[in-house]
Amino acid sequence: MKYQIEIKKGKDLTSKELIFLAKETQRVFYGGNNFNKELVRLKREKNSFFFLLKFNKNILSFGFLKPTKIKYLNKNYNIFGIRNVISIKKKKGYGSLLMKEMISFLNKKEKTGIGFTGSNVSKFYKKIGFLTKKGLRNRMFPNYGKDKGEIANWGFYVEGKDKFITKIIKTKLKVKMPLKKW
Ligand SMILES: CC(C)(COP(=O)(O)OP(=O)(O)OC[C@H]1O[C@@H](n2cnc3c(N)ncnc32)[C@H](O)[C@@H]1OP(=O)(O)O)[C@@H](O)C(=O)NCCC(=O)NCCS
Repeated sequence: MKYQIEIKKGKDLTSKELIFLAKETQRVFYGGNNFNKELVRLKREKNSFFFLLKFNKNILSFGFLKPTKIKYLNKNYNIFGIRNVISIKKKKGYGSLLMKEMISFLNKKEKTGIGFTGSNVSKFYKKIGFLTKKGLRNRMFPNYGKDKGEIANWGFYVEGKDKFITKIIKTKLKVKMPLKKW
């Protein structure tokens, strides 16, 4: 048996997988055991691409790509938001294996993918091949950190054929997002 990476749409996740993902996401990002809200949220991600690194059927790390349409300077862009990246046991290489697969997936499709993080974790993403840039979250979600006292203001991204990130970096204009947060 060896490590396996499964890539599947949200609508094809099993209930066991959905519950595991919801529980871990709740535990890691928000604390506490009440994962029902997260489960409801994940169930809506029917068309997102989920990446699951498994060993002997156990999930070791996961994350997903959420298709998102953005209108910027009168042009539509179909990009991916990178969401809920979690490694169950840290510093064992599970995060890298998973996210390198996500990079190849985006490169093959020539699509832009972007996620947001703090300055420490941005080093992890840079090491495995993402481009990183400080200030990108505030460009796309300016209200995100206001009530948190902490702003994870780094963007990590793969540049697609549409060169969306390069284009927004070139201006200081507001990027109107279809969602309040990723
Ligand atoms: C961020 C995360 C996914 C990394 O996964 P991981 O499995 O621990 O990472 P890996 O073992 O593959 O580490 C790869 C490299 O990045 C480095 N790295 C990992 N986490 C890091 C961090 N938080 N800060 C700086 N460097 C980090 C490792 O030291 C390693 O470097 P090396 O190859 O020189 O030893 C994991 O720490 C995690 O689940 N964190 C909590 C949730 C989170 O913050 N997710 C990201 C949201 S954007």
